[in-house]
Amino acid sequence: MCGIVAYIGKKDAFPIIIKGLKRLEYRGYDSAGVALIDNGQLNIYKCAGKVANLEAFISEKNAEGTIGIGHTRWATHGPPTDVNAHPHVSMDGSLALIHNGIIENYDSLKQELIKQGYVFKSETDTEVLVHLVDNISKKEKVWFGEALRMALSHVVGAYAIVAISKDFPNQMVAARKSSPLVVGIGEDGDFYLASDATPIVEYTKQVVYLEDEEIAVIKFGEELKLFSINDEEKRPYIQQLEMELEALEKGGYEHFMLKEIHEQPRSIQDCLRGRLNAQEGRVTLGGIKDYEQKMIQANRLILVACGTSWHAALVGEYLIEDLARINVEVEYASEFRYRNPILSENDVVIAISQSGETADTMAALELAKSKGATILGICNVVGSSISRITDAGSYTHAGPEIGVASTKAFTAQVTLLTLVALSLAHKKGSISETDFRILLTELEAIPEKVKKVLETNAKIEQIALEYKDATNALYLGRGSSFPVALEGALKLKEISYIHAEGYPAAEMKHGPIALIDENMPVFVIATKGNSYEKVVSNIQEVKARKGKIIAIVTEGDTQVREMADHVIEIPETNEILVPLLATIPFQLLSYHIAVMRNCNVDQPRNLAKSVTVE
Ligand code: F6R
Repeated sequence: MCGIVAYIGKKDAFPIIIKGLKRLEYRGYDSAGVALIDNGQLNIYKCAGKVANLEAFISEKNAEGTIGIGHTRWATHGPPTDVNAHPHVSMDGSLALIHNGIIENYDSLKQELIKQGYVFKSETDTEVLVHLVDNISKKEKVWFGEALRMALSHVVGAYAIVAISKDFPNQMVAARKSSPLVVGIGEDGDFYLASDATPIVEYTKQVVYLEDEEIAVIKFGEELKLFSINDEEKRPYIQQLEMELEALEKGGYEHFMLKEIHEQPRSIQDCLRGRLNAQEGRVTLGGIKDYEQKMIQANRLILVACGTSWHAALVGEYLIEDLARINVEVEYASEFRYRNPILSENDVVIAISQSGETADTMAALELAKSKGATILGICNVVGSSISRITDAGSYTHAGPEIGVASTKAFTAQVTLLTLVALSLAHKKGSISETDFRILLTELEAIPEKVKKVLETNAKIEQIALEYKDATNALYLGRGSSFPVALEGALKLKEISYIHAEGYPAAEMKHGPIALIDENMPVFVIATKGNSYEKVVSNIQEVKARKGKIIAIVTEGDTQVREMADHVIEIPETNEILVPLLATIPFQLLSYHIAVMRNCNVDQPRNLAKSVTVE
């Protein structure tokens, strides 16, 4: 949560920072602000609302300077107001600082600073940092970089920080712990800093991901210097970015979410590329191959994740248990981390995360590691914190996902988990060679089938028109389609603000059925497979109570068509691969309903893409 951008060099800092903040707006959009040093003056511009507000606010002012910091906020401490917006400034107006994270002991630090005469303007935890740095700098007579380093030993919590001072107009200082920060090394001695690489990629591909408790001292025209919090100098590890700029643009679509939904044939293909060879009957997962025997022999595989990634983990549980016959448990990372779970070296904990930065998922992994378990990661963002702390892992290769509601990341996670299940099953011998090859061929055909599902878009738009004013919705599925129902309900809730619940279809009669009347749309996955007849019975139960049925069915289905108010056909595939197809109509449906309700599809209220706070 919160996006930070900074620049130091010869160019005008403001346009670089504003453009970067727009790229990072998915991380929070409650307020935005910029600090620039111009001719020895430190100028601050900040206001509540989105980055566009800030841009309009600054348009009449002379926002100049070749060194600056910018911030887009997801509010934690204090509401989204102008004063609570970052940057925060020292009382003498010389030092400005931006922060992503939470200072957990801010209150005790604040009380101490108040006793020493510091006056707080905002309700944020961040303002404590700026006064603390100022206080140490004055007391110890050290420059602000050294004061920041010393201040961090008093701080409990998570942070990515960038600070500048008008007394040192040629340098900036940055630090991180548990919140991400990337430094881009430009060609002309200039530097770009950001919460992720998206604001940096158009200027340079040479980057350094800061590690926990590392401090970067950045001087224009000089080499990047890294120190530990204990002041030991460290050698920067420079990496080459593989991201392309076009992947960050809307590419003609009205919203990122729509673009990302339509990218799924390609993103699934990218996830399979180099890993699946149906002709030769091979699955190769380079990233985790050295851990596959460990997984096969493990007590349990524990999949930890949050939100949509947790839904992908649930699909993974069905796949791995069914094909590889390995005991799998799926845990909400936020619950797992505080539950004192029983873990040993014989457990393998696998984190699933699009961003690779989710605080609860990170903490769950750290806990598992401390108890001796092997920790693996399935992440989308290359170089993310989770991908760096795990023993090994595989990337989903879905490409940057900018829309806050996860779409292509989910299908890529499910694709990768399918490959994991198949690979483990094959190595363990729990699947026959014939079935293995049949499934590989089916999986290979999925990208083309996703294209066919996307052709139902116009029909789904019509259905959306009919149900856009619903106040509640139920989503039902059985087996591995149950997580798809959960995911469908989450998509509708988060972007259209319609209350929706996902249920295993058979659970309906244990309570939710009481909600059904002629105003209740019930979205059901009723594709051909083992539980088809059972789902048909559940549909009848809904119809008997006058509920509206919108069913996802296998191409050519006639039985459900007769009962349902609407059917959406998806191509036939093996039952275990249905989630990859059935989820797509639900994504489209939520998208169209949200657009029809004039909701902000890419940046739904109260949400942020990367949840780096607990
Ligand atoms: C919903 C959504 C969230 C994320 C969750 C975990 O559309 O995007 O529920 O899935 O915040 O995020 P990651 O996968 O980045 O760990």
